[in-house]
Amino acid sequence: MCGIFGCILRTGEAASTIHEGLKKLEYRGYDSVGIATIQGRQLFLKKDRGKIDEVHEIHNLDALPGQLGIGHTRWATHGAAYQENAHPHTDCKNQVAVVHNGIIENFVELKAELEELGHTFRSKTDTEVIPHLIEEKLKEGLSLVEAVRETVKRLDGSYAIAVISVKEPDKLVCARKESPLVLGVAEDSLYIASDIPAFLPKTNKSAIIQDGEIAVLSDEGYEIRKTLDWKLVTREPEVIDWAPEMAEKQGYPHFMLKEIHEQPLRLRNTLRLQDQYLELMTTFLDRAGEVFLVACGTSYHACLAASYMFSKVALLATHPVVASEFVEQHGKSVNIDSTLLVVSQSGETADTLAAVESARLRAATVLGLTNIVGSTLTRVARVYISQQSGPEIGVAATKTFTSQLSVLSQLALRLAKKRGKISHVEIENLEEKLEQIPEIVESVILSQEEKVKRLAKKYRGKPCFFFLGRGISSAVALEGRLKLMEIAYLPSLAYPAGESKHGPISLVESGFPVVFVCPKDGTHKTVIGNIMEMKARGASIIVVVEKGDEEIKSLADDYLEVETGLPEVLSPIPFVVPLQLFAYYMAIERECDPDKPRNLAKSVTVK
Ligand code: F6R
Repeated sequence: MCGIFGCILRTGEAASTIHEGLKKLEYRGYDSVGIATIQGRQLFLKKDRGKIDEVHEIHNLDALPGQLGIGHTRWATHGAAYQENAHPHTDCKNQVAVVHNGIIENFVELKAELEELGHTFRSKTDTEVIPHLIEEKLKEGLSLVEAVRETVKRLDGSYAIAVISVKEPDKLVCARKESPLVLGVAEDSLYIASDIPAFLPKTNKSAIIQDGEIAVLSDEGYEIRKTLDWKLVTREPEVIDWAPEMAEKQGYPHFMLKEIHEQPLRLRNTLRLQDQYLELMTTFLDRAGEVFLVACGTSYHACLAASYMFSKVALLATHPVVASEFVEQHGKSVNIDSTLLVVSQSGETADTLAAVESARLRAATVLGLTNIVGSTLTRVARVYISQQSGPEIGVAATKTFTSQLSVLSQLALRLAKKRGKISHVEIENLEEKLEQIPEIVESVILSQEEKVKRLAKKYRGKPCFFFLGRGISSAVALEGRLKLMEIAYLPSLAYPAGESKHGPISLVESGFPVVFVCPKDGTHKTVIGNIMEMKARGASIIVVVEKGDEEIKSLADDYLEVETGLPEVLSPIPFVVPLQLFAYYMAIERECDPDKPRNLAKSVTVK
């Protein structure tokens, strides 16, 4: 996730306006920044690694001339946070500048093709193919707009781009596919940005650029066309009445709710990981003598779910371990044949890094899954995968959890294929369902949110909750409980459902709320037995079930539903979503701030 901003002004300098706009987009990424402007027939560009204020202090971003320009605040995906990897990227002759948000999946092939044609690349980014492709098309004599159109036709993946060129110094051309892009329209200026708050201080009139559209901004106004058939689109700007603070959260009252709603988009991104990293990591896993899955908190719950995925799909036994216990529990037995798959959203969690350090000292292989490219984990891991969730601002992990699950399930599937442990039919089914997960999560949010709100009102006064699930759903139960505890301050318990009768059941009395996570997998029948045990003691039963699971619904006081027909190993992704929403609305009912729970920090850098 990155932030892009561009503008054409009639009065004033573009650079300072872009700088201001990027500040409002910093929540989308903050590891490097850059601005390019045009004056006369000359391109001016400044970019560097670091937060906007840091880069501005060194380079004075405002000191670029011209009334037209583009800017970018980066969240590294391809290529670490170095100056060369910062946007804007340019072509060989510095005549075209491009900012991009998204992932170009076929950049390796495109880059090879362009290098063959003599283009020189300066960065390790996927984005840089875009200015070079445009350069090629301009060479053929196409106009800037035509060159952009022909270029985007060749791109696989997702993008929101803004392009300027000294060849047509009065134009700003943008295109969009599956990454956000909005147009801001004022009396004497036009803006383009990843998000409305970026230009809200300048104008409250906005039009959304849709997927598969190209917008051309110039002194004369703007024009939107369909990329494929070049049909003109008539779209009048709408008036936005959000307060600036509300706008940053895209109209949501809290970042946590925004991030829960963002999950379909983020999950789509995780389906576009670079093949070579997935393949490399799978090779290491395949060769490992033993595999430890190491993490803390929510990331540990992803590891726990992953241990079921690896076992069920790839027939690989793994050891999920809470990072703070790793050294005590396994420190001495780890050796050159051990592999640690380390999961950390921040890549900076002290307990997790301590486990990594001790394993490295014993020559173990460390693989990393993280959301922060450039974090310590990415530096110490032999291979790492960036989970593509974009910055998570709410302290409670939500979208980063489901992204981790998606990546881990892809690794399990790949390993299964490599080891020949899975039939073609199963592979096809899993691949097909993985593709559907973003839509399924979207429909869970749409269909269940109102119901969750009602449940939160009904159960708001309960002092304690139980979360139970069997098999892979025990990881979901743990995560549902952690969310409720950390943001609504409700002491709660979570157990594998079978374990509940070995002690915790003594807490249950009339009206005690017990949440069961019950997909229709191999555990279904046994879970019904566990529900009956709780019901017999007067518990209030809340279930998360598949649509049409009348058997379990008839036993429950309340139910939340998820689309039916998901393979067991993928079920945690949509099943956790109603529990995230439940925690959020319980926090609201109990007047707690879900974005800033007391005593917690987004990144825990102390042991
Ligand atoms: C819970 C939460 C924490 C983190 C944990 C590990 O909502 O966010 O439990 O999951 O502190 O953090 P990372 O994944 O950054 O290592």
